[in-house]
Amino acid sequence: MSDEKQTLEERAHNRTQRPQSDAFRSFIGEDWGQRPTGPQRGAVADYLPARHLKLGSQFIGERLVFPAGDLQVRSNDTDYRFRAHSAFAHLTGLGGEDEPGAVLVLEPRNTENRTPDATHDAVLYFHPRSSRSSEEFYADSRHGEFWVGARLSAEEMATLTGLKIAHIDSLRDNLAKDLGEVNIRVIPDADAQVTELVQQLRIENGLESDAQEMNAKLAEAASELRLIKDEYEISEMRKAVDVTAAGFDEIVASFPRARTHWRGERVIEGAFFAKAREEGNGLGYDTIAAAGNHANTLHWIKNDGPLVDGTLMLIDAGAEVDSLYTADITRTLPVSGKFSPTQRKVYDAVLEACDYALEVASQPGVRFRDVHAAAMTVIARHLEQWGILPVSAEESLIPENQYHRRWMPHGTSHHLGLDVHDCAQAKRELYQDAVLEEGMVFTIEPGLYFREDDLKVPAEFRGIGVRIEDDIVITATGAERISNHIPRTADDVEAWMARLAQ
Ligand code: GLY
Ligand code: MN
Ligand code: MN
Repeated sequence: MSDEKQTLEERAHNRTQRPQSDAFRSFIGEDWGQRPTGPQRGAVADYLPARHLKLGSQFIGERLVFPAGDLQVRSNDTDYRFRAHSAFAHLTGLGGEDEPGAVLVLEPRNTENRTPDATHDAVLYFHPRSSRSSEEFYADSRHGEFWVGARLSAEEMATLTGLKIAHIDSLRDNLAKDLGEVNIRVIPDADAQVTELVQQLRIENGLESDAQEMNAKLAEAASELRLIKDEYEISEMRKAVDVTAAGFDEIVASFPRARTHWRGERVIEGAFFAKAREEGNGLGYDTIAAAGNHANTLHWIKNDGPLVDGTLMLIDAGAEVDSLYTADITRTLPVSGKFSPTQRKVYDAVLEACDYALEVASQPGVRFRDVHAAAMTVIARHLEQWGILPVSAEESLIPENQYHRRWMPHGTSHHLGLDVHDCAQAKRELYQDAVLEEGMVFTIEPGLYFREDDLKVPAEFRGIGVRIEDDIVITATGAERISNHIPRTADDVEAWMARLAQ
């Protein structure tokens, strides 16, 4: 075939020369040994029914659709590594690179079958592996065993998740069943094709076509469902913090090489990434490795600068474990191993803000927003003492002023879990305004950022950026800093560097 007759899509296959003969097809399907035994039931499976019930009871009689999302093209026929949408991961317990293209449906029970313990049946639609005599086995680079390894069979997926399983090819028909009598909602931003399918089915079945608000309500509920973590989730959070702690040890150990490298920030980034991949699924977000004045660019992820002796290095990094829960930790380290007096002064002020915020978070009846307010009182007081604030700390703290926020423009806390900024679609009354409750997991991360071109601060402060970020779990008795074992005080940081950065 000449190039002119081939579509551009067909041309993508020009580099392959797959045998087409019947002899080959039957030969490649023969004489393969037993596959290894499939997975055991996952530890998370026991927690799923309670999650389904808590969500389902807000949408009685409605079909709820949670797509995993699909592979995203990185370039041409090369995709990004897959990571499922967090609502899907939460409701199926699937993690790692499972399960592109899959869809979880919470199928509503009718009035006869509905019980206080079960409002919906959870059905996972996915593409199970095919036999080794199928063309898929050797010819399908998306699903084939020769290309992506042996995927799970339907039975194995049922064992792993405890969910009912259906083939993804039956999704359309099953979503369409009884529509009109049954309403349907979908998490809208997970998979454009599934959202479009649901939209088409709505129109075909006479449901109102403007479903945006309905879908947004489902996304909000799925996000709010994660505000209180169960026991399994808390133990995964602890694992994520432990892998992150090990990653920070690698960071500190990489300092001698980073200090001599023309892009030392990349050395730091790479050291953490290696640990996160070795021990977990990878990063929960792109690492911020910010030397010197780069720390004053809050989302510095370019990480292409050198480490300069006498300056500070801010590293904000989190490992995501195989279940997809992530930590979110920041440490600020002196490049040459010792803080200067001014650096230590700023560092200690930020540390005091962290500690006071935790103390407030430990008190009963405290609201999420009170944690930020607590940190800000400490920050404003120090800025006043250093003669930097144009008014007193007290005056600065009133809502009409807020001068101190010039040097700490971000929030102090956010929920943390499957997403680094977890529960982001939750209503304000359940997030900022909510009273802290057992099972909540969030960060405390105040900072002070003195840009090198900031003419409102004395010269000795310019170019210093400090953030200290820890991960907190609310327990029955207060607030626990689960990242406490990653050195935090200025003395402990110096000792850490003396021990590992040789
Ligand atoms: N690493 C992003 C954050 O701290 O919120
Ligand atoms: Mn954070
Ligand atoms: Mn962070």
